Amino acid sequence: MRLDKFVSQSLGITRKQTKQILRQQLIKVNGVPECRADQQVDADTNVTFEGRRLHPPGPLYFMLNKPDGYICATKDSRHPTVLDLIDEPRAHTLHPVGRLDIDTTGLVLLTDDGQWSHGITSPKRQKTKRYLVHLAEPLIDGVEQQFEAGIMLDGEKNPTLPAQLKRLSATEVELCIQEGRYHQVKRMFAAVGNAVTALHRQAIGPISLDDDLAIGAYRALSEAEVASLR
Ligand code: URA
Repeated sequence: MRLDKFVSQSLGITRKQTKQILRQQLIKVNGVPECRADQQVDADTNVTFEGRRLHPPGPLYFMLNKPDGYICATKDSRHPTVLDLIDEPRAHTLHPVGRLDIDTTGLVLLTDDGQWSHGITSPKRQKTKRYLVHLAEPLIDGVEQQFEAGIMLDGEKNPTLPAQLKRLSATEVELCIQEGRYHQVKRMFAAVGNAVTALHRQAIGPISLDDDLAIGAYRALSEAEVASLR
């Protein structure tokens, strides 16, 4: 897409206004002031206006490093929500893809594309979620096999799907699950007599949280990342 079209559509301004701000060198492409209206850009090009990244017209897709204390919802009367962390003109159109508990940190995807988020959270097409888990007690032997075989959670009729557990230390593990049942990770460890003291989501399917994304920060997903979860 041409740069002038990208800028006018993402800022919601006229072609004439776009020409002006391009002439004033207020638009940067990959950090360099750019005034050529016909320069080709796409969703992965870093286009900024006064230091703020512009997103192309069309659906929005972000990854957020969720801090403790934020709710995965669009509104809440008592707590801040993950949307409060998104400083974008169209933030009010976004929703979180699935939920993390208020005290769980890490990867949250946000979008205004309902079909895309449904494809990720739908029980038929659940993606693998990877968590870093801190435990109150050292992990007993054999939990890997129990989780792989599926365990019965309190009050449920069906066992969990096979889950993969990797020990990192006596009280720290990585866990991959295929489902998204209510408080699933905490309940799985409760079922084997342990307790989760901290929970951090590292990945959803092929998308891992960036190591250098600060707590509370977010970034746009690339076209390839969006496509990888379709
Ligand atoms: N499992 C939990 O128990 N809590 C979360 O936030 C996510 C998975």
